[in-house]
Amino acid sequence: MNNPAISPDLTAHLEWCRVHVDQVIDRRLSTRDKQADRLVEAMRYAILGGGKRLRPALVVMACEAAGGAAQTALPAAAAIEMIHTYSLIHDDLPCMDDDDYRRGRLTVHKQYDEATAVLAGDALHALAFEILADCGGPDIVREVAHYIGADGIIGGQMDDLLAEGIITNEQHVSFIHLRKTASLITASVRVGGRLGGTTSAQLEMLTGYGRDIGLAFQIVDDILDEVGSTEQLGKTAGSDRAQQKATYPGVIGIEQSRQRAAELCAAAKRAIAGLGPGADQLVALADYMILRDR
Ligand code: IPE
Ligand code: IPE
Ligand code: MG
Ligand code: MG
Ligand code: MG
Repeated sequence: MNNPAISPDLTAHLEWCRVHVDQVIDRRLSTRDKQADRLVEAMRYAILGGGKRLRPALVVMACEAAGGAAQTALPAAAAIEMIHTYSLIHDDLPCMDDDDYRRGRLTVHKQYDEATAVLAGDALHALAFEILADCGGPDIVREVAHYIGADGIIGGQMDDLLAEGIITNEQHVSFIHLRKTASLITASVRVGGRLGGTTSAQLEMLTGYGRDIGLAFQIVDDILDEVGSTEQLGKTAGSDRAQQKATYPGVIGIEQSRQRAAELCAAAKRAIAGLGPGADQLVALADYMILRDR
């Protein structure tokens, strides 16, 4: 990350999270049955080949903000990244967004085949819950399942597909984005907070933060899809326009979309003001969410 707008502190902390979360992922995906070689290879290809690791960083930083140690959050952070990667593999399939590039290389269905991509996503999803059950227990498992199901990612993804090609408005797009993207981001900070021993008042603050940066994150994703290059993004630029997706720039234009993202970032920081200096990294990460260029 060589964006001068990002503080050296945040850069170092993100790098620490990336290295340690990747170690957990690598370990969990290296000792499997030989019979499943192709499957595990595809899972590793998808998850270890890049990605910003923002959701695992949120798990770790929320745990720290609640007073817990970063190490405590690593298995759950890895599990959240597995869920995110599974959602990307499926999002790229021909029956969904039909994209050929992800994280700077071919999507899993292009590198392998569609069936392998579906199964690699399914297996990452399942492994994530195995890990969450071990490190978090039933409350965390139930909560994550809720945030990524019909009321969360999957409901949002369904509506994202149904909204292709229709004329719509900001309220509708925000309803889609809150579920397809903000729900996993909210789940990430809630899981981290719970593992760090958060109080229920702190958990509410983290939830507000997650919702706001989650929506801002997807608005910026929509903007970058319009203004970024394929090389910079590691995924095909202009894909939303080609698929006639319902996006923020599509309904309110680029400038207003930037403004909305900035307002949400400010609201997110206000939401966690009561957490004190332990939440400094979350505050910095909120800024990064809207300043990022990939
Ligand atoms: C992409 O997420 C999918 C969206 C929800 C917009 P990221 O931009 O975090 O993707 P990676 O993990 O860095 O590849
Ligand atoms: C993806 O939204 C949301 C999920 C994967 C759940 P997008 O379809 O905009 O993500 P990209 O642009 O392909 O990464
Ligand atoms: Mg999509
Ligand atoms: Mg997509
Ligand atoms: Mg996108």
